Amino acid sequence: MSKPIVADNKSVRVDLVQGNDYYFCACGRSKSQPFCDGSHTGTSLSPLHFKAERTGPAFLCQCKATGRAPFCDGSHSRYTEDQIGGEI
Ligand code: FES
Repeated sequence: MSKPIVADNKSVRVDLVQGNDYYFCACGRSKSQPFCDGSHTGTSLSPLHFKAERTGPAFLCQCKATGRAPFCDGSHSRYTEDQIGGEI
């Protein structure tokens, strides 16, 4: 069973478009954070598909420990710079 890795210890602001489909990186390995770039291949993890409910800015999780994926819930505050790239 693969574990997500901490892509960053802060959220990222993105501009979403209502009704559009997005694939949120749940594994933390994507080089196109916060979205999937296929880097989860070979792990037991897969991206989270979501459809934007409204147009506008959103803060998406990059630590991959949020309890309300794909959105930030503040969980990143428990990770230091040194923990970036390590398992959650
Ligand atoms: S690259 Fe992380 S879920 Fe696809």
